Amino acid sequence: MKKNEIYCLSVTGTTSEGLGVAKQDGLVIFIQGAIAGEMAEAKILKVKKNIAYAKVEKILTPSASRIRPSCPVFHQCGGCSYLHVSYEKQLEIKRQKVTDCLKRIGKIEFPVSGTLPSPQPFHYRNKVFIPVGKDTNGHIIAGFYAPRSHRIQSADACMIQDRKAQEVINCIKQWMEDFKLPPYDEKTHTGLIRHIYFRVGLSTGQVMAGVSANSKVLPHADILAERLLCIDGVASVIHNVNQFKTNVILGEKTNILAGLPYIEDKILDTRFRIGPLSFCQVNPYQTPRLYQAALDAMDLNIDDVLFDIYCGIGTIGLCAAKRIKKLIGIEIVPEAIEYAKQNALLNDIQNACFFAGKAEEKIFELIDQGEIPTAVVLDPPRAGCDRKLLEAIIRLAPKKLCYISCDPATLARDLNYLAEHSDYQIQSVVPVDMFPQTSHVETVVLMSRCKPDAPIKITPKEAEQGEPYTKRGAC
Ligand SMILES: C[S@@+](CC[C@H](N)C(=O)[O-])C[C@H]1O[C@@H](n2cnc3c(N)ncnc32)[C@H](O)[C@@H]1O
Repeated sequence: MKKNEIYCLSVTGTTSEGLGVAKQDGLVIFIQGAIAGEMAEAKILKVKKNIAYAKVEKILTPSASRIRPSCPVFHQCGGCSYLHVSYEKQLEIKRQKVTDCLKRIGKIEFPVSGTLPSPQPFHYRNKVFIPVGKDTNGHIIAGFYAPRSHRIQSADACMIQDRKAQEVINCIKQWMEDFKLPPYDEKTHTGLIRHIYFRVGLSTGQVMAGVSANSKVLPHADILAERLLCIDGVASVIHNVNQFKTNVILGEKTNILAGLPYIEDKILDTRFRIGPLSFCQVNPYQTPRLYQAALDAMDLNIDDVLFDIYCGIGTIGLCAAKRIKKLIGIEIVPEAIEYAKQNALLNDIQNACFFAGKAEEKIFELIDQGEIPTAVVLDPPRAGCDRKLLEAIIRLAPKKLCYISCDPATLARDLNYLAEHSDYQIQSVVPVDMFPQTSHVETVVLMSRCKPDAPIKITPKEAEQGEPYTKRGAC
């Protein structure tokens, strides 16, 4: 098999990134734009020892789930993976992805529920960081990267981002053209403007807009602020300073050029202020349903002490705070913790405490202070939970444990650890579609101890390190 050759392939599966899978001549071939069950002519793009990459040239027998992509640059852009797949089928692919990860990585066989669909499958993203560059004529372009590359695919519209984003993108591109401000070049670490920043609060319509730049000083910042403030909804204009020689998107310092240092939004009945560096869920149409699924599963009551670990600006815990005894949140980004504290005040919540630090370290300080949860919600980044944190949770042995994950592979790894080292049993696994048209999926897993009165199962090595923190039952 050689590059540029065209093969007729039978597509038998789908990868976790949404590529079709076929096998031929002893190679596994990953095909961009193919759906399982199809016969397709595909052009080979790259051949390695045991695998090859290809892209669809012609579909010979289309899947019943194939639809016409609604974006003209779908095949060139790395932003979406499933614009050619019906939404119903996307939900089924995601359920299967969670099932497969649990089985293959977690060694767990558990009936996974149907994926909870997003009420809004298009134009849902409330936050976009768009890289900027130049085309061959020297004009400023902005857009997502092409698949598996850092080449910017220019686009005039995007099917998943909030409709207001394009006006901000066009305004910033024009400002760069007018003042000849160079885009940043990540190979040479030269140039100025790295990313366009856009974030909107769905319920308030407030927009935070601006740029991340490779400089502490932003030339013509006053004009940028003046122009952005003319766009409907813009309430905050920012300049993020990012001088890192890596592809990290935001630096640690943000200058507020005009307006507020935050925007506001509402989730369930709770108001939130969101700062420029703080995480917030990107699909605001689906976030209330995600949180409701987690909170319903935990069935919290007034006796519960809830640890919200990886809490961001406090969203999950604060949505439940009024019906529990106490809320404790832990989060690594100090700005997010400042907003979590403000958000508690904003909603007149007095039973919440928030701590900035690494969850895997901070949890031990809390334990030393005698804080014992009855319920824990874990909502880690894609890397999943640190092993030390899981060990602490096992010894704390909360009655209810809810794991919200944005990566089924690390979720399965962590569930496997919990299954092997504790008596937690999975009660429900619910995939939630937070990211329609992409291959990503969020999952809510509820666990409880199968023998809550029995000793907490720990290995002899762990026993050497100390007793369980809670001395329940026979312990
Ligand atoms: C998926 S987000 C969830 C945030 C929040 N629960 C929400 O729903 O908006 C994960 C959060 O974990 C934080 N984080 C990453 N590593 C961490 C660590 N080691 N300790 C504590 N927080 C961490 C990130 O800053 C981010 O806010």
